[in-house]
Amino acid sequence: MKQLIKLKVNGDEYEIAVAPWKTLNEVLRKELNLTGTKLGCGTGDCGACTVLVDGKAVNSCLTLAVEVQGKEITTIEGLAESEDKLHPIQESFIEKGAVQCGFCTPGMIMTTKYFLENNPSPTVEEIKKALDGNLCRCTGYVKIIDAIQDAAKKMKGGK
Ligand code: FES
Ligand code: FES
Repeated sequence: MKQLIKLKVNGDEYEIAVAPWKTLNEVLRKELNLTGTKLGCGTGDCGACTVLVDGKAVNSCLTLAVEVQGKEITTIEGLAESEDKLHPIQESFIEKGAVQCGFCTPGMIMTTKYFLENNPSPTVEEIKKALDGNLCRCTGYVKIIDAIQDAAKKMKGGK
């Protein structure tokens, strides 16, 4: 039995009928066509599905869509400052070569957004700890850490 729910995603309101067991990930990708958010493990282990719910990073594969009614959901599609201007974290990932196949990247970036808002001047150890729920099979993480340090500087107005 489907249930009519209202979701606010990237500032847009949606009213959709979903089965109560559908995850936020399934609804974002299949109902709203917001495929920037990836589905990797589906079990909370890889972080590829990370989105922000009321500003906090969550695994959309473990979150039911009906649970997040009335909350502000932000996906990678909603992060850029405008059509012509990426978010500084996105810029830094590109500039520092932190993207290879790109599958982990939306989740990495959403985790980073939450992390830097709560810790604007992180140490490398703190960055590694923040990323412990996000797996990357390509980059070896060094460039991702460089990108996050660079983004932290940019977000503080350092570049
Ligand atoms: S797909 Fe959600 S944590 Fe892996
Ligand atoms: S860039 Fe390929 S998994 Fe991270």
